[in-house]
Amino acid sequence: MAQLPKIGFKPLSKVESGTVVIPVGAKLKLGKFAGGVAETVGFEKAAEAAGFTGASGSLNIYAPAGVKFDRLTAVAEHSKSEQIGDGQDAAMALGGRIWATISKSKGPVTLLADGQEGEYDPETVAAIAAGMLLRAYKFDKYQTSSDDEDDGKASKLKDKPLSVTIQCADAPGAKKAFKSAEAIAEGVIIARDLVNEPANILGPVEFAAKASELSRLGVEIEVLTPKEMTKLGMRALLGVGQGSPRESRMVVMRWNGAKSKSAKPVAFVGKGVVFDTGGISIKPAASMEDMKGDMAGAACVTGLMHALAARKAKVNAIGVIGLVENMPDGAAQRPGDIVTAMSGTTIEIINTDAEGRLVLADALYYTIDRFKPQFVVNLATLTGAILVALGTARAGLFCNDDDLAGQLFEAGEATGDKVWRMPLGEAYDKLIKSKFADIKNTGGRYAGSITAAQFLQRFVGETPWAHLDIAGTGMSSPSSDISDTWASGFGVRLLDRVVADHYEK
Ligand code: BES
Ligand code: MN
Ligand code: ZN
Repeated sequence: MAQLPKIGFKPLSKVESGTVVIPVGAKLKLGKFAGGVAETVGFEKAAEAAGFTGASGSLNIYAPAGVKFDRLTAVAEHSKSEQIGDGQDAAMALGGRIWATISKSKGPVTLLADGQEGEYDPETVAAIAAGMLLRAYKFDKYQTSSDDEDDGKASKLKDKPLSVTIQCADAPGAKKAFKSAEAIAEGVIIARDLVNEPANILGPVEFAAKASELSRLGVEIEVLTPKEMTKLGMRALLGVGQGSPRESRMVVMRWNGAKSKSAKPVAFVGKGVVFDTGGISIKPAASMEDMKGDMAGAACVTGLMHALAARKAKVNAIGVIGLVENMPDGAAQRPGDIVTAMSGTTIEIINTDAEGRLVLADALYYTIDRFKPQFVVNLATLTGAILVALGTARAGLFCNDDDLAGQLFEAGEATGDKVWRMPLGEAYDKLIKSKFADIKNTGGRYAGSITAAQFLQRFVGETPWAHLDIAGTGMSSPSSDISDTWASGFGVRLLDRVVADHYEK
C-alpha cells in the first residue's frame, strides 16, 4: 500500500543523514538556509555540469563531499506549468514536485524551507507540506504487487511511511498552519478515495456508511432510507434508483461551527450516482467503467464536510448527498414515464441517462426547503457536453447570483480548482418544456450542459445558487503537480476557500 509521508516541522539545524532538499530559483538563486550547504557540497559546479539552471526540473547530488547526509536534491522553486494563483497554490505545486523527486528515498528527508525571496511564511510551508501529501496519494489498494518492487526488501521498505522534516524559520507557526492545510488535504483524499472505489464495493448504502464516519469529528449525520424519502415525496430521486437491487440513500451532514447556532447555514449538495449505466437508455460500452465516478459531486461534498469539521471552520454548513445506482432492469424507470418531484413539479422522463438532474431536483429542493441556507452550491458530473465546452481544465459554473459567482471564480483561480461561468436564461429554459408534464429531463441536442442547469434551477427558487458541472474535472482528469490519480478530488479546496474567505464568522 502506498503510504503518505509523516511530516514534521523543526527549526534550522544540521542534517546528519538521508536526503536534503533545497528549493532553487532561476539562475540558481538560493535562500539563506540552503546557501551554506550548497557551497560546502559544490552545488554550483554540479549544476553547471548537469545543465540545471533552476528554471525547471531537479538535480540530485549523491554522496556529496564534506557533509554527513547521503543526497542533496535541488528542486526548481517555480514551474512552467504553474497555474496563476495567490501563491498558496504555487506552494502546493512546489510540494508536489518535491514529493515526485524524493518519494523513492531510502532514508529520512529534510526540506530546508526557504526560497530565493526569503524565508517562507508558515502558511507557505504548510501548503508545501499539503502539496506533498496530495502528490503522494495513490489508489493502489487492489494492486497486490507493484511494478517497481523488484524484491521483498523493497516492498517492506514501502510499508514504512517516509519521514519528512521541514526545517523552517517559524516551526511552531508552520505546525499550526499545517493543521488546517492537512484537514483540507484529508478532505481531498477522502473525495479521491470515494471516486476511485469501484461500484461493486461502494454502493449507496456503503457510501452512506462512509459519510457517517464524519460523526467522529462532530458532524451530525442523518441517513434517509427509501421509506422516508417516499414519505417526503422524492419520486424524482427514487425513480432513478428503482432499477437497482441496491437501495437509494440520502445523507444529511451538519457541521455547526459558527458562534451562533442559529446563524443561517451554507449548503452543499452532491450528485451521488454510484454507477451510471444510463438505465433503459443504456450507454455504449466504451469507457462505461468511468461511470463508477458518477458520484464525484457527492464525494466532494463529503470531503468538504470533513475539511470544514477537521479544521473547525467557524461556519454552519450543511452537506446533502443523493445516493443511487442507475441500472436497467424490469423494475427500472422508462422513457415516457412521468414522476412528481418533492417540489410538486412533474417531470417527463425522455432519457433515463439524464438521471443526475433527477437526483439533484429532490436533493436541492429538500435542502432549501428544510434549511433555508444563505446559498446552496451543488456539484455534479452532470453532462458529457461540459467536456465538449470546457475540456478537463475547468468546471462549468452556472449561477443565479453574481456575488456568489464571483466568489467561486476567484477561489478557483486561487486554488487551481478552476471554473468558468456559463449562461442561463429563458431562451434555454423553454427547451425543457414538456408536452405531457411541467418539464422534461432533456433539452435536445444543443446546449446540453445549459439545459441541464436550467432543469436544476427549476428547484431552487430565489435562493442564491450555483451549479458546478464537474464531469470533466472530477474524474479521469490529467495529472498535475499535486495529483497523480484518476480521481482529482476537485471542488474540496475550491469550496473550502470560498467558505474561509467569505462565510466564517
Ligand atoms: N453521468 C453522465 C455525464 C457524464 C458523462 C459524466 C461523461 C462524466 C463523463 C450523465 O448522467 C449523463 O449521462 N448525461 C447525459 C445527458 C443526456 C442524456 C441528455 C450526457 O451527457 O450524454
Ligand atoms: Mn447518465
Ligand atoms: Zn450520470
